[in-house]
Amino acid sequence: MSIFVTRPYTPPLEEYLVELKRIWDDKIFTNQGRCVTELESRLKSFLDVDNIQLVSNGTIALQVALETFGRLAKNELNSQKREVITTPFTYVATTNSIIWQYYEPVFVDIEKDNFTLDPAMLEDAITKNTYAIMPVHVFGYACKVDEIQGIAKKHQVPVIYDAAHAFGSRYKGKSLLSYGDLATISFHATKLYHMAEGGGIIVNDSNLQDKVDLLKRFGHFYDDYIYPGINAKISEIQAALGLVNLNHIQEIIKARKEICESYDALLQGVVQRPKVQEDLEYNYAYYPVVFKSEDDLLKVMTKLKEHDIFPRRYFYPSLNKLPYVKPSSCPISESISSRILCLPLFVGLTAEEISKICKLIKECLV
Ligand SMILES: Cc1ncc(COP(=O)(O)O)c(C=O)c1O
Repeated sequence: MSIFVTRPYTPPLEEYLVELKRIWDDKIFTNQGRCVTELESRLKSFLDVDNIQLVSNGTIALQVALETFGRLAKNELNSQKREVITTPFTYVATTNSIIWQYYEPVFVDIEKDNFTLDPAMLEDAITKNTYAIMPVHVFGYACKVDEIQGIAKKHQVPVIYDAAHAFGSRYKGKSLLSYGDLATISFHATKLYHMAEGGGIIVNDSNLQDKVDLLKRFGHFYDDYIYPGINAKISEIQAALGLVNLNHIQEIIKARKEICESYDALLQGVVQRPKVQEDLEYNYAYYPVVFKSEDDLLKVMTKLKEHDIFPRRYFYPSLNKLPYVKPSSCPISESISSRILCLPLFVGLTAEEISKICKLIKECLV
């Protein structure tokens, strides 16, 4: 079987069938049914957050989050406050959601150690047109949340963390999801914890809780029409998978930790690894390695492909280079993007497969 960068976790099918049977009996497939309600409550306590609202995917979570701070009418689209400051080193969903909400992404370069938005360059990017700041806890590593918060507060600009990768990561003794005015998460099948497709919004500013709730379900409460909302609801079928997968989360994280530790041991001194904060309790979401040059990376990819192994260039290209954004320069992100590769990491990756991957990488680099 080919080895891809990830393989969705598959819980025992019988467990999922039990949940499906309950949905069949209840005859409720969506609109905040039993599975969604139960899952929100269990995730709230597992993740140690004040609340979580489930939505249909992590991209619409970002769009609803952006929408939460106000809605400009179409005739105001060219007015001020159209810029969202963000990172160029992330999956394209972050940038695209900004553009889909008719905002302009303004890219701030990243830290070379852990690839998150560099707060030292943030303040210079803030202008009277800044609507929000959208940093990313990329790979589950923590942004410098205190510094970002200080700058945001000084300029009275909201912070929305794209925490798509941050399931289970903790920073300074708190869930990484509990930082920012809002944080969003993805439960896509490629993620360490998934519901095939799914997402969530964590509302850390309690004043926004009701607005997020309304925006994700068309913006009305029975006959009371309040906002021009959207359909971002998650179905019971997805939430049922979430319930079952949550029963296995400890074993998932344990298995991923062991794989990361095996890679660490076998690749020490061979590739560069990110340096993460000491007070981060990591979730083992990804295993990125950085090569000395793009040539080395391409050699490794070619070699692995010959053996049916497909790591991914997460994240390439640096998003400030997308053909549809205003040209800007982010030299650190561009350099890292050209040299970084995420190695296969999923429950079920065997010790032999890990050894083989590391052996092939080493052969390319001697
Ligand atoms: C950083 C980041 N943000 C947002 C998303 C979008 O999430 P989804 O695929 O659930 O829409 C992803 C997705 O995979 C992501 O990696």
